[in-house]
Order: sequence, then C-alpha cells, then structure tokens
Amino acid sequence: MKNLILIGILIAFFSANAQQLSSPDGKLIMTFALQDGGTPGYSLIYKNKDVIKPSKLGLELKNDKKSLLDDFTIADVKTATFDETWKPVWGEVSKIRNHYNELAVTLNQKETNRKMIIRFRLFDEGLGFRYEFPAQQNLTYFVIKEERTQFAMAGNHTAFWIPGDYDTQEYNYTTSKLSEIRELMKKAITPNASQTPFSPTGVQTALMMKSADGVYINLHEAACINYATMHLNLDDENMVFQSWLTPDANGDKGQMQAPRTSPWRTVMVSDDARDILASKMTYNLNEPSKIENTSWIKPSKYIGVWWEMIAGKSSWSYTNEFPAVQLGVTDFAKAKPNGRHGATTANVKKYIDFAALHGFDAVLVEGWNVGWEDWFGNAKDYVFDFVTPYPDFNVKELNDYAHSKGLKLIMHHETSGSVRNYERHIDTAYKFMKQYGYDAVKSGYVGNILPLGEHHYSQWINNHYLYAVQKAADYQIMVNAHEAVRPTGIARTYPNLIGNESARGTEYQAFGGSKPDHVTILPFTRLIGGPMDYTPGIFEMDLSKLTNGRNKSHVNSTLANQLALYVTMYSPLQMAADLPENFDRFADAFQFIKDVAVDWDDSKYIEAEPGAYITVARKAKTTGKWFLGSVNGYNPRISKVSLNFLDAGKTYIATIYADAGNADYKTNPQAYTITKAVVNSKSKLSQYSVAGGGYAISFEEANKNQIKGLKKL
Ligand code: NOJ
Ligand code: CA
Repeated sequence: MKNLILIGILIAFFSANAQQLSSPDGKLIMTFALQDGGTPGYSLIYKNKDVIKPSKLGLELKNDKKSLLDDFTIADVKTATFDETWKPVWGEVSKIRNHYNELAVTLNQKETNRKMIIRFRLFDEGLGFRYEFPAQQNLTYFVIKEERTQFAMAGNHTAFWIPGDYDTQEYNYTTSKLSEIRELMKKAITPNASQTPFSPTGVQTALMMKSADGVYINLHEAACINYATMHLNLDDENMVFQSWLTPDANGDKGQMQAPRTSPWRTVMVSDDARDILASKMTYNLNEPSKIENTSWIKPSKYIGVWWEMIAGKSSWSYTNEFPAVQLGVTDFAKAKPNGRHGATTANVKKYIDFAALHGFDAVLVEGWNVGWEDWFGNAKDYVFDFVTPYPDFNVKELNDYAHSKGLKLIMHHETSGSVRNYERHIDTAYKFMKQYGYDAVKSGYVGNILPLGEHHYSQWINNHYLYAVQKAADYQIMVNAHEAVRPTGIARTYPNLIGNESARGTEYQAFGGSKPDHVTILPFTRLIGGPMDYTPGIFEMDLSKLTNGRNKSHVNSTLANQLALYVTMYSPLQMAADLPENFDRFADAFQFIKDVAVDWDDSKYIEAEPGAYITVARKAKTTGKWFLGSVNGYNPRISKVSLNFLDAGKTYIATIYADAGNADYKTNPQAYTITKAVVNSKSKLSQYSVAGGGYAISFEEANKNQIKGLKKL
C-alpha cells in the first residue's frame, strides 16, 4: 500500500508520461519521466523507500546554441529483459549471472531535432544508466561543458568519502554525515605528488553511503571508456549530488563524436551491506572480453624489491652524483654508486631464491632502469626510456636465473606522469620485455601529467591507460597500473588488466600511516570497479627498525590483520610486501601467505559493515580449498561465523591465525596466536579481533588420524 502511495506521489511529480522499470526481484523501482520544459528525470525506490528522489538528467554543451538538457519529447520507449551467465577469466567466483530489466527511452529535442537515448538497466542490486548519442545529421561533433546528472539523496546519509580530485585517490577515507563534508574537507586533503581538489563538497566515486534507516547506497560508474572520470559535487542544502567530470587541458570535459555512449552511472542499493560487496553489476555493465585467447593471463602471488625502497632502507637510484639526469647524456657507467641501490643483481638474486623456496610466482624489481636520480617534480618529458638498466642490474642474467627456478620477473615502468614519452617508447618497451621473458608490467604515473594541463583522470589520459592495456594484450602482457584512473569494471573486457592501485595503498603505511579502518572501507569503494594491488603482508610495523630510525612511520595494523587482507581484498595479483628477513622471523604466520590462493571458484560474504568489519570466505579454484579472512576497524569485536559454507559431511582442520588478546595495532601489533581446530559445516566460530586487527583461517580436509587430540568447534 505504502509502495503504491509513493509511486502515486512520484507520478504526480513527474508529468503524465512516466515510465516505470522494476528489478527482476521487484524490490527496486525506477521511474523515468520528462519534467516541465521537457527535462529528463528519474527516481529510484527500494522496498518502498526513496533512494534517489526525482533527479535531472542531461548534458551541458560548449559552443552549442542548445544543450542536451531540456526541450525533449519521448520519441520511443523499448523494454527488454536479459539473463545470461558468463565465466570470468579470473575472479571471486567462477560464474557470474547478468540479470536485468531494461528501459531505453529515445528522446527528441524539439528545437534541434536531435536524438539522445537514455538506457536504464535495473538489477536486483541496483541501477545502471547511460546516455547514448546515435549517429544523426544534427549531432556529430560536440564538446561537453559538464554532464548534469543528478543523484538526489533522500536524507543526510553517513558517507565514506575521499576528496574529489582530478589527480589522485590516495587519501584516507573520512566517515561523516553528508552535511559535514564541507567542514571536514580541508583536513581530508592530505599532500600528494600531484593533486587537484576542485570543490569543498566534491567527493570521488565509488562513494559508499548508509541511510539512517539502514539502506546502503553506492554511487559509481561502469565502463568509463573514451570519457572523463566522474566525480560528485554535493549541493549540501538539498543533499543533491551532481556529476562533475574531470576537465582536459582546455578545461573541457569531453570531446565527443556521435555515435558514442557515456559510461554507465551506477546506484547500488541494499539493506544488507554484504550485497554491495558481492555485486557483479559493475562488471555486468561492461562488454565481454575482447581478448580471445586468455590462456596467458595468470593470477599470481609475488614478492618484490620494493618495500625496502618505500620504507627508505634502500634507493631506486644508483648514484647520488647527478642533481639532474639527461638520458643519453648522463654517463652512469662512470658514476659512483651510492651504496644503497636496491635493484642490484646480487640483491635481486636473493629475492628470487626466497620466492622460489616459498612457492611464489614472480618477483617485481623497481629501480632497475636509469633515470631515478631525477624522476619527478619537474616538467621533464624524457625521464625514462624503459630499456636501459643501471650498470649493476643484469637483465639477462636475472631473467635466466628466475626462469631456471620456475619464476618470472615483473617489469616496472614508472612513467612519472610523462604519458607522451611512455607512448613514444611503449612498443620498444614491451618488445624488450618479451625478449627477456617478462609477461607482466607494473606501470606508474607519479607526479603531474605531461602534456602539462592534463589530469590523471581526463578523457585523453583515460584513453592512454586503455591504449597501454590494449597494446599490452597484443604482446600478451598483463598490466598492473598505479596512480592510473580507478577502475570501472573494464577488466571484464580486457582481463589482462590484472591490477590497479588507484587508492591509498600499503605504501602510505610508510608515509605516515593509514587509518586502521581503511581496509574495511576499500572493498565498498575502490574495489567496486576492480581489484587493487594493495600490497599487503607487512610483518614489521615499526619502520624505524628497518631504517636505523630514519623512517618513523608506523603500520597501523596487526600482523593477523595483514594476513586477512589476502582474502578480504580480492585481487588476482597479490604481493607479499615485506622483506624476506621479516617473513623468516615469523615463519609460522608466513605460512598462511604461502598457502592462500589468488583465484576463486566461490566467495561468501559473511559479515560486513563499512568502516567496521568485513568477513569473507573463499573457495580456491583448482584445489577447492577454503580460506577465510576478517578485518576489523576501530572497535574490538567478536566475529560470529557459521562455517556452513564448508562441504557438508566433510571434516576439516582449521588453522586460525588471530590477534592475541593483548595485541594492539599501535603498541603490540605482532602479538598473534595460531590454533588448530576440527570443524565441519555445522561448526560455529566466535573469534575476537582487536582494533585494526583481524583473523585469517585456512581449511584443510582431514582424516581421523590427523584430527586426534585436536579440539572440535
Ligand atoms: C608509487 C607506486 O604506488 C609505488 O608502488 C612505486 O613504488 C612508486 N610509485 C615508484 O614508482
Ligand atoms: Ca601510489
């Protein structure tokens, strides 16, 4: 009844031409209608509650006598239902159901006789919609001044947000009411090598929110291709978000040519936070794989010559002699080594030995190529050539050595934001990789973008990121891009994009630390669009110990929390980030990192609350083994879990890696316990975690002899 009244009110608000669409399960209802003056509008309700109140749709154009904002009539309406199951190349599950009802409204602008289609897809977990500009006489080339999509909120929700910024997402999350964003913005904007915040109420997507009556709402986008990244700007008097695109060097927000579509704007909704984490809507709104043969794309676990530089123990650079470097002019062969260079042949061999001993797939090496003495901060175009090693790094010898032990080296291409330079060298760089047997590259975009004036998330550079991924696919190379745009599910279409950073990763634990609840928010925000190369696995939290006191930063996490991240932060690419000697010190805990899988048949979200906790169990693809991870925010808590995901009738030994009772993420992070228990699908577990803590479990099927003397749960 209440439902009917609400719909009645909505229809009365809109003009009589309202069109309705419901989700397959009927819990979500979207209404589209033209408002007065022919302005397109939509609204969304979930189980009788307003999620999006009547909101306007359209685009403001530059240099055009009329924008695509009003004066529309409905020329055609089409509905459809789609239900298909597909298999991702890698993922949290081996099968994904893509099930939605669709409404496509063709609008005709009276004065200009232009056509624009707005296509809505309503899934059980949310709404996706996009603008489509079909080929037509009166709309060919056009420039977007601003996209004017509104998301009118129904209340002053709690939001988990980072500042809207054209150049970085490397921020801690702030949890606040929408009305508090303005006063908290200044504090939320912490320093970065390149940053351009744009408004005191501007925030980034994916934006996670919770209403006072317990509805979880997530705003993001899917398939951001040949288009600028969308931010959200809040009108905090009316609680209306408005799309805010990233400008190009001219200040324009989109260079368009019909036929073209915008990315999908997405609104996920549920009264159960676990549904947001489990949703595959973002992938479903992307196109199927364009790569036919995907047999070379392999999920993997790696270590790297990395944390020692990030923490400040060693350096990417080879010498301290050159205040500035010019490639081809500066002579590294004659330079005096600084004695701190990390990527030496001898050091890399140690990492290869360690990786081989413990069953890793690959070793990342950064700082191997000339140019690091002078690599960002200046508007210098030719920073790296991606093929010239330092004198103490033997490319062939190290690759041969790695291959002889069944491992690969992972290439590193830091572009320092000089995108034109990277594109000039990209073919040569990828060929060089193939010549020596690398099949994966970590790329990076630290510092301001060159050409000057472009931003990290403008249309032009979004096209670059995709170009690099497509080119890499031609060479059968997997890509993990740092500082690139946050993903929008395009890894469905290009599954060689196996990782992105695009958020505040573990490196910030060495640059002053991240908030202990950070990892309970990232899966609700950054990970909605695709996996993150978060680089977990830090066992020594006191970085002064690694650096003779030089780095005073502290890793705000317990050791057990670090283990849980391998399960809670889904990625087909997982790093064990700490130094080999720290893993050796805690060999019993390191065992979990060695055992945990990176590709999954199934995932069960067991407990979830943004900012507070996430508990997930996953079943490994080839072995069928179960693993569980649980991360905890600021409040110590007892996690209560039913193990009913385990195969019925089987007996397992659970190895539980947990915070010790006296663990503390600041003062006693390395206090953990490892216990074994006999469990089956009827077992129930109560497990305590401290603030910034968590626990991880591996399950091993067991026979009668193996379980003798072990306690039963
Ligand atoms: C920032 C990246 O996030 C980090 O992983 C990398 O080591 C440095 N840039 C240097 O490229
Ligand atoms: Ca980074």
